[in-house]
Amino acid sequence: MIDVRLIAAVGRRGQIGLAGRLPWHEPEDLAWFKAQTLGGAVVMGFRTAHAVGALPGRVVVPWLGDDPQAIIDRIAREHPGRIVWIAGGAKTYAHFMSYVRRAVITLVDYDGPADVWMPPLWEGAQCWEDAR
Ligand SMILES: NC(=O)c1ccc[n+]([C@@H]2O[C@H](COP(=O)([O-])OP(=O)(O)OC[C@H]3O[C@@H](n4cnc5c(N)ncnc54)[C@H](OP(=O)(O)O)[C@@H]3O)[C@@H](O)[C@H]2O)c1
Repeated sequence: MIDVRLIAAVGRRGQIGLAGRLPWHEPEDLAWFKAQTLGGAVVMGFRTAHAVGALPGRVVVPWLGDDPQAIIDRIAREHPGRIVWIAGGAKTYAHFMSYVRRAVITLVDYDGPADVWMPPLWEGAQCWEDAR
């Protein structure tokens, strides 16, 4: 079975994005993201993929609204053995959440503004956005 993991950095109130980018400057977390995802297949939403660009050492799979199952099946077929990292943003996390078996979350000590929020990790969890 393909190993699907979620990776995110989340502010104190669930913030994840601001004006199409990360709300903070955290080089250490970017290094962590790289170390975790190297060798894997990284699924990113259209907006995130546009902002991030190429990721050396990883297969970047942009999500353009297609069926998540079809994307996971395609990665399993074309890149067997690679861990699949669901790397955001919010829309992408939400669409792939039911396939995720492991979540790697960095809690960032950030209390500033955001316009994109982490969706709930499991059914019944309080939505971060509602908790603002
Ligand atoms: N903190 C973290 O760990 C982390 C990780 C990743 C991203 N982020 C942040 O999350 C934010 C982005 O998240 P998001 O939920 O807005 O988007 P996203 O999940 O990155 O991308 C999905 C969105 O892209 C748009 N899209 C899809 N196909 C498109 C196409 N062909 N042409 C134009 N637009 C298309 C759609 O927008 P519409 O629904 O409007 O059509 C869709 O909802 C950014 O600020 C990013 O920096 C944070």
